[in-house]
Amino acid sequence: MLNRGLCVAALAAFVALHAHGEVTYSRDVAPILFHRCAACHHPNSIAPMSLLDYKSARPWARAIRQAVLLGKMPPWFADRSIGHFSNDPSLSASEKRTIVDWVDQGAKEGEPHDLPARPSYADGWRIGKPDAVIDIGQDHIIKNTSPDEYVYFTVPSNFTEGHWVRAVELRPGNRQVVHHAHVSVVMPKPHNPASDALQKGRSFSDFLFRTPDGLRHMKPDSPVVNDACAYKGPEIDGLHIAGEGALASYLPGMPPDIYPDDTAKWIPAGAQIRFEIHYHYESPSKEPVTDRTSVGLIFASAPPRHAIRRLDVDEDFFAISPGNPAQEVKQCATFDSDSLLLSLTPHMHYLGKDARFEIQRPGERPETLLLVPKYDFNWQLKYRLQDPVFAPKGTRLILTFHYDNSANNHANPDPGRTVRWGEPSHEEMMSGWIDFLDAGTNEHASIQ
Ligand code: HEC
Repeated sequence: MLNRGLCVAALAAFVALHAHGEVTYSRDVAPILFHRCAACHHPNSIAPMSLLDYKSARPWARAIRQAVLLGKMPPWFADRSIGHFSNDPSLSASEKRTIVDWVDQGAKEGEPHDLPARPSYADGWRIGKPDAVIDIGQDHIIKNTSPDEYVYFTVPSNFTEGHWVRAVELRPGNRQVVHHAHVSVVMPKPHNPASDALQKGRSFSDFLFRTPDGLRHMKPDSPVVNDACAYKGPEIDGLHIAGEGALASYLPGMPPDIYPDDTAKWIPAGAQIRFEIHYHYESPSKEPVTDRTSVGLIFASAPPRHAIRRLDVDEDFFAISPGNPAQEVKQCATFDSDSLLLSLTPHMHYLGKDARFEIQRPGERPETLLLVPKYDFNWQLKYRLQDPVFAPKGTRLILTFHYDNSANNHANPDPGRTVRWGEPSHEEMMSGWIDFLDAGTNEHASIQ
């Protein structure tokens, strides 16, 4: 059977080759590059070269062959044997074959009239004309002193009434330097009298200190909990924070968020908007540049049937020991109402090694929804579930991340150090962001 299948495949390939002649850029390769690569590989975008025309692509032919064969491009880090994701950009076996054959046959141009229409990348808003645009409130100057900089900007929304938002786009002011960015709605933390009493006034912020640049770090003598799911000790304020807030992210190559029909996100009156921007500026010879990143919002005309929410699951009390090649850190959270999970995003810094997201429905065994076996800090990918995953009330979400603090991790700035939670990239984070819908009737639609 197998042999016969192979023969038929080989025959089909033979017929295809002879029907079409040799593989050319214009007819065979451009459709693949336009569809799978050009979102990042077009002029003035995040990738080093455009693949939108033969002249720009040709010098990269061998590198393209290599990157495609190794699975380095397009970038995607989820284990393909687990789950299905609607934004998985991976090439099919036959697309890979076409690219490899093209290079092996001399990377010919072919007939320009065979070219498909080129996708256009307008500089304008991809969500359409926003109803409101909020920017970082200043022209931020990026100097050439350090290649990476994380900056937080908190600005008023000036909303005197709440708004349901059905599309959000975070638009970098200067694409050359904005590596990735998040925008959140900042609301006061819910007051928890029980934990206040237990802590005798000790709050999460008492465990933190600030460096002169204003960034927060975990104090070295704070309690250490690496497995928050199994933790049975005295209550620690902040150990089980599962917050809500982030609105949208700008991630390399990812399209903006346009929510499914009948769903929207709520921004309350008086909310502040917090931008968290990672600037990456590589050319030390260059003059300082400026950025003014903004977020565009399109309002829903009526309250949606389902509120879109985002759960931010953080573990902030871990300690990653010096040299440890696989420090495990776990955090759990429980859904307090029936929910439909839409997307999963792991977030770590330079030591991030792998990430697993599991759910455990009441009375059932854990099920892995996402495994990222080789996490890469440079690619802050969001994994959109092909079909929403139902998590009934009481479902536990289990996040298991590993960190490589050894010298074998080339991204590790200093293997000799205990690393704790902190905002700068050389400190660590353990966060999982989950977009979900309230699966029940929209009781949240009336929370205003
Ligand atoms: C999500 C954005 C994105 C997509 C999609 C993408 N690339 Fe890239 N590509 C980049 C960036 C950014 C770089 C430079 C940084 C790096 O090499 O990681 C790059 C680098 C490359 C390089 C140079 C690699 C090297 O070895 O130096 C090649 C070749 C390449 N891409 C080919 C492709 C091809 C072919 C596709 C589609 C099949 C593709 N890329 C899809 C963003 C992307």
